[in-house]
Amino acid sequence: MKKVDEQKNYIKEIKDLNKNNKDLKYCILTMGCQLNENDSEKLCGMLEEMGYTKTDNFEDANIALFNTCCVRENAEDKLFGKLGELKRIKEKNGTIIAIGGCMMQEQHIIDKIKQSYPFVDVIFGTHTLYRFPEDLFKALQTKEKIKDVIDIDGEVFEGLPIKRDSNIKASVTIMYGCNNFCTYCIVPYVRGRERSREPRDIINEVRELAKEGYKEITLLGQNVNSYLRVEREKNIPFEEYEGVNSFATLLRAINKIDGIERIRFVSPHPKDFTDDVIDAIASSDKVCKLIHLPLQSGNTKVLKEMNRKYTKEQYLDLVEKMKNKIPNLTLSTDIIVGFPGETDEEFEDTLDVVRKVKFEQVYMFIYSRRVGTPGDRMPNQVPEEIKHKRFNRLKELVESQIEENNQKYVGTIQKVLVEGTSKNNPNMLTGRTDSNKVVIFEGDKDLINKMIDLKIESEHMWYLKGVSI
Ligand code: 5AD
Ligand code: SF4
Repeated sequence: MKKVDEQKNYIKEIKDLNKNNKDLKYCILTMGCQLNENDSEKLCGMLEEMGYTKTDNFEDANIALFNTCCVRENAEDKLFGKLGELKRIKEKNGTIIAIGGCMMQEQHIIDKIKQSYPFVDVIFGTHTLYRFPEDLFKALQTKEKIKDVIDIDGEVFEGLPIKRDSNIKASVTIMYGCNNFCTYCIVPYVRGRERSREPRDIINEVRELAKEGYKEITLLGQNVNSYLRVEREKNIPFEEYEGVNSFATLLRAINKIDGIERIRFVSPHPKDFTDDVIDAIASSDKVCKLIHLPLQSGNTKVLKEMNRKYTKEQYLDLVEKMKNKIPNLTLSTDIIVGFPGETDEEFEDTLDVVRKVKFEQVYMFIYSRRVGTPGDRMPNQVPEEIKHKRFNRLKELVESQIEENNQKYVGTIQKVLVEGTSKNNPNMLTGRTDSNKVVIFEGDKDLINKMIDLKIESEHMWYLKGVSI
């Protein structure tokens, strides 16, 4: 029997166990990136099929589920804080506690949970996410503590149930793992080596989403522009479908799917940003012209230490080339401040690149030591207060640039995908531009899930205000 079918049987078994209880609930806390959010949508899909419904309150939940991230230290603090709280809730309500995701691939975290939080019922890792039904079934039946973590690279599993967070925008994971080993990053250790989904499976998923009425697709992977690269280089068999044998051809194929109006993707790596990808973006009308291009540092020496495989100049040249070839291009980026050995002068290079590129959005991170990575073993760690000072300087620069950049929108007409009513003002609608800026405007609720033109009237740092035209 196929492994996924086996799990579907466990889903049925749990549904059977639950058949006399109609009011079973789960609460899920997802940490980290969009890949984790997509994994959580799969976990929610499994739980819903088992007969559980979602609650936002752990107090009301029969199952408390954590999908963890370990990219930075603050996620650990958050998990352990929540577990402390859940101990009390479990004593009162008998809640089943399950923890999965990236952090569970780290032995020191498992040891800490075993020692300090022995009441946790199920632990599963990134490669065993598909086995959550089986693990939960065993925990429910035997009342024993289940640990199901493996270290080998996971296979790619198709056909798991999924319950998506939105009915307008959907994420589609196109590849798993990472082969880059940037020296600050834990991801390659917890997510394993790169492996891509079959083109046919991705295209059929997007077609299905289009049929269901989804308008925007975000393609996900740790390194999306090396989609199918390992397969091609190592002669790992895959089936070409609709001409797809690379990231560029995948973009072109998805661009042809009727009903889908916007295509985004995160994250590409600058070193793999080949001309065919740039050309595919330029000539595919549905591919948004906001490209996320992680910089990490603007200094060539720091980039080398980070194992990023490009220099400051190569990054700037790539941006120049992209700007020339892709009309209306906007860029966002990730930056780490305070990588080991980074000096004040080297940090200036990061500010310099930010000044030159004028990013639409910058995700800023303070370097966080990750056990097991080369960065953690480097002797010249930057003191916390210096990291914070640099972070604040970068933040100031970025915010001043955002303000300036927002001015450019005022008076323009923007295509906006309307996503719903505004959280802060239910009389207003909210949507996003191609460049992912939030636009708030007055309009009829019928406009939700439609692409409309809005005239931008004013800017307010984190959002724009528009009017229908
Ligand atoms: N410390 C700080 N930021 C990190 N990132 C990855 N690892 C670390 C770390 N150890 C950031 C990178 C990456 C983003 C997802 O998280 O900027 O692009
Ligand atoms: Fe981490 Fe670098 Fe891989 Fe991104 S490319 S997941 S930063 S190792």
